[in-house]
Amino acid sequence: MKSKDLICENLSVGENGRLLFAGHDTELLAKKYGTPVYLLDEDRIRQRCRTYLQAMKKAFGCKGKVLYASKAASFKRIYEIMNEEGMGIDVVSSGEIYTVLRAGYPLQNAYFHSNNKTDEDVSFAMENGIGYFVVDNEEELFAIQTEAERRNINQKILLRITPGIDPHTYMAVSTGKVDSKFGSAIETGAAEKITRLSLEQKNISLMGFHCHVGSQVFDSEVYLRAADVMLSFIADIKAKTGYEAKELDLGGGYGVRYVSEQPVIDIAENILSVGDFIKEKCMSLGILLPYIALEPGRSIVADAGLTLYTVGSVKKIPGYKNYVSVDGGMTDNVRFAMYGSPYTILPALDMNLPREMRCSVVGRCCESGDIIQNNVPLPDSIKRGDILACLTTGAYHYSMASNYNRIPRPPIVMLSANGNYIAVKRETFEDLTHLEV
Ligand code: LLP
Repeated sequence: MKSKDLICENLSVGENGRLLFAGHDTELLAKKYGTPVYLLDEDRIRQRCRTYLQAMKKAFGCKGKVLYASKAASFKRIYEIMNEEGMGIDVVSSGEIYTVLRAGYPLQNAYFHSNNKTDEDVSFAMENGIGYFVVDNEEELFAIQTEAERRNINQKILLRITPGIDPHTYMAVSTGKVDSKFGSAIETGAAEKITRLSLEQKNISLMGFHCHVGSQVFDSEVYLRAADVMLSFIADIKAKTGYEAKELDLGGGYGVRYVSEQPVIDIAENILSVGDFIKEKCMSLGILLPYIALEPGRSIVADAGLTLYTVGSVKKIPGYKNYVSVDGGMTDNVRFAMYGSPYTILPALDMNLPREMRCSVVGRCCESGDIIQNNVPLPDSIKRGDILACLTTGAYHYSMASNYNRIPRPPIVMLSANGNYIAVKRETFEDLTHLEV
């Protein structure tokens, strides 16, 4: 019987008890590349892209778009994969745009988000032919108009709208989240105002609207509610101004499993039900079906990722607590420290041993909050030199990694049916000082 801890189908156990990831022996990978190391299952990433693309096509025909929210994991190879899979992308900074360009990804398929684009960002993105700006606020709208006029071009934009939905308390609170730092709220009239202003700008083509209700969302009702509010807004704007949006981007956010207690979301089925709802709603409101975009980040890459660590000290404090220290920590995984996120951590060398010891798996930073997970069941025999695997680390790990305590960032190793290869090299000590004069 498959252990309940094997929370994604790319995990299995070999005859020798070794944890296999994407069919690869994790001990051999640890030996070959060293630890800590981020592993990324390329086939899983491609499979997730295809699931989204096919479902969006089924739901909306040629009017469905899928943009990979690249803040989840941004490096050259991932943009190449997105290009090969026919995915659009969402970027949030000039640094991500630069990486996109270095990967040879066509920037006209990119949407530039963020709540505060600097003049330099606006200019850099336009210079390189960004597809869309997703405009957050009025100052930004004017900055984009000014730059587009200077360049004598017409710039496509979406407006980021705050629909007033709390993704976690949707049933009880349907007008929450107006206080977000992102976007312009419908409830306050700011959304209508920025829409009217956009329509007045000579060098701007308003293509439609965007919203994003949250991340790690398991309640699919949230998307129906967001679509409901946004389509009603589109109809309201049409009635008031005659402008009919051509595009509606519903953001990202589908949740993934970090632990077995979390559900598996059937993305394809969810998209189809959102699709049915949207088509009916458009009919009843008397508006044309706009292009519909989704922007998944986490659900494209999260469970394609796994981090391998080597155990250092094992400290048992009788009557209190046990600690297992690893050679990484909050520098490669800050998500427990930041969000208290749950994780599954497995003894990669022998999955068949009973796991009767409870411990905190901690990093090697000078900070007591440097914890990867508390209350982890591991074999009592766990010792220095053993390998631990932390699951579901493909999203928001490499992209949020730091050099705190001057710890070099781990490499990213891609796994596929044909083998494994380095996509991002391990940082060296030289890298740590190379900007210093
Ligand atoms: N679109 C927009 C406008 C977003 O702000 C985000 C995520 C996404 C799409 C992608 O959402 P996803 O499908 O990945 O849930 N660092 C946090 C997550 C921050 C998410 C920020 N925005 C974490 O580690 O959980």
